[in-house]
Amino acid sequence: MSAAKTTLNIAMIGQGFMGRAHSNAFHQVGHFFDSPFELRRKVICGRNRESLQAMASRWGWDETATDWQAVVERKDIDVVDVATPNNLHAPVALAAAKAGKILLCEKPLAMSVEEAERMAEAARKVPNVVWFNYRRVPAIALAKRLMEEGRLGQVYHYRAVYLQSWGPERAGVWRFKRSEAGSGAMGDLLSHSIDLALMLNGEISELSAMLQTFAPPTRDVDDAVLLLARFSNGSIGSFEATRYAIGRKNYNQFEIHGSKGMLRFNLEDLNRLEFYDCGDQQAVQGGHQVLVTGPGHPYVDRYWPPGHIIGYEHTFTSTLADFLEALAKKQPFHANFDDALQVQRVLEAVESSSADGRWVRLGKGTTRGRSEE
Ligand SMILES: NC(=O)c1ccc[n+]([C@@H]2O[C@H](COP(=O)([O-])OP(=O)(O)OC[C@H]3O[C@@H](n4cnc5c(N)ncnc54)[C@H](O)[C@@H]3O)[C@@H](O)[C@H]2O)c1
Repeated sequence: MSAAKTTLNIAMIGQGFMGRAHSNAFHQVGHFFDSPFELRRKVICGRNRESLQAMASRWGWDETATDWQAVVERKDIDVVDVATPNNLHAPVALAAAKAGKILLCEKPLAMSVEEAERMAEAARKVPNVVWFNYRRVPAIALAKRLMEEGRLGQVYHYRAVYLQSWGPERAGVWRFKRSEAGSGAMGDLLSHSIDLALMLNGEISELSAMLQTFAPPTRDVDDAVLLLARFSNGSIGSFEATRYAIGRKNYNQFEIHGSKGMLRFNLEDLNRLEFYDCGDQQAVQGGHQVLVTGPGHPYVDRYWPPGHIIGYEHTFTSTLADFLEALAKKQPFHANFDDALQVQRVLEAVESSSADGRWVRLGKGTTRGRSEE
């Protein structure tokens, strides 16, 4: 007979896009992974009572609420998941940490470095996660493994773009308001690329950046960002993130060139990793399109047989599964609030470089992904 699992009662604040992605992960994780915990979708909290009720029934939440302050204080809640616009991450996470709750929070972590520092400090007292879900794309986890094995040799170039095209069409939503979003394409898209870069290629030592808003004064956040960076390992990087890349949907791509080979990934083809290995016989050298669906690939053995592809939603489920395992074993988990603070430091440097037209140095250790320690 198997031992009884500990139940964790979850309160999720936010019922939008990420509310659905997280609800799905809470629901699915126990189906695919041997989760040591029983997750109970206890309370979903939002603002619109009617749609909240429909969402609760659809996704199996026991209760609905509209007052997040009351929810995070509840004694019967073990986990608080923050899936709100960015300006609410800090108040909700700080209150939840104070109440001793396990903390899950969306990215970008905060509206500023100062806010992120306070959040990271509070979160060090409780188990915590930031939903940098792309770390758990199997192809990206494989890229990390190959880099750790030294298969790229000395890295020369790190090149990342995150291209979306919905900027001109949408107005009025919180994502275009500085008071609610903090920034535009920078916090929304570049934050993902920077998190992956810090995880895969280590610390950024200095950068020069340019932010652009194409449609002032209707919006007061950046629509696009360009950035040049030096990494502490001697490689150089370039990044571009934009909501104005007409023709691109969710083109989150990186390409890494080293002395022994090249890796390339694009989220729009997320089951594949391209790997060029200089060790191959010269006659057959070329970029191999590795279909990262097993055998021997990260995460995918928990889902379907080799070649039976997975999708966007699995990245959230795998993130949650890793976190629950770490929680049970009392082991560290990444990405956590400290990792997200490092990303926030880069974003702040981007803003200040763009404003001053100068290169900005980042202090040693300030942007090292914790996973590398
Ligand atoms: N990890 C990722 O890949 C990813 C993708 C998209 C969004 N995000 C992040 O997730 C967060 C939410 O984004 P989204 O796309 O789900 O936004 P959304 O607009 O779809 O949903 C936001 C939700 O927050 C709720 N909300 C706002 N104020 C509230 C309040 N005072 N109390 C309770 N609920 C409140 C709204 O009702 C809404 O349900 C953002 O921080 C965003 O950057 C992350």
